[in-house]
Amino acid sequence: MKLVIATSNPNKIREIREILPDFELLSAAEAGFSEDVEETGETFLENALIKARAVGEATRLPALADDSGLAVEALGGAPGVYSARYAKLFAPAGWTAGNNALLLQNLQGVENRRAWFVCAVALVYPDGRELTAEGRTYGRILTEERGKNGFGYDPLFFSDDLKKTFAEASEEEKNAVSHRGRALTALKNQL
Ligand code: IMP
Repeated sequence: MKLVIATSNPNKIREIREILPDFELLSAAEAGFSEDVEETGETFLENALIKARAVGEATRLPALADDSGLAVEALGGAPGVYSARYAKLFAPAGWTAGNNALLLQNLQGVENRRAWFVCAVALVYPDGRELTAEGRTYGRILTEERGKNGFGYDPLFFSDDLKKTFAEASEEEKNAVSHRGRALTALKNQL
């Protein structure tokens, strides 16, 4: 089955290819779609649907979108749907470091480091049918980065399942327990 992946994030594309080896996956760019879709939803699922519908309508192919992020208990679920734009939207004036540094700063002196990644996936067919699924993975935020693999918040996320950070894990180890792995497996089971 041919699917367009409605994301331009190369890390997500790489992980989705690993997790769904039996599908013929095209990136949005390969399917001729290069617009930036605005993520105006308030939930991961709304944003995944917005992206999958936009790419599906434009390419007339089944479109798969992922919207994901990190939720930190002590921060009331932040950065949440703003995970990718955390420092851009919420850093104090003059901040030049990135998202991970801001997260560490906001958790300075905070004992409760509980956190989870969430991933919502949506598959939209040209005839309008829609399938959705969600996956979560639990852990805690360390006080400094560890490991070089993965992307985003991976070096700060110590996984309950793996007993190491996602950035210390191999791609295979991460995909076996990750929010994205779990969401895509749940979606695959509905196909
Ligand atoms: P979006 O889904 O493109 O809006 O962005 C999700 C953002 O959440 C990414 O840019 C990362 O900051 C973060 N994120 C989502 N999944 C992961 C992951 O597997 N590891 C690390 N960070 C992630």
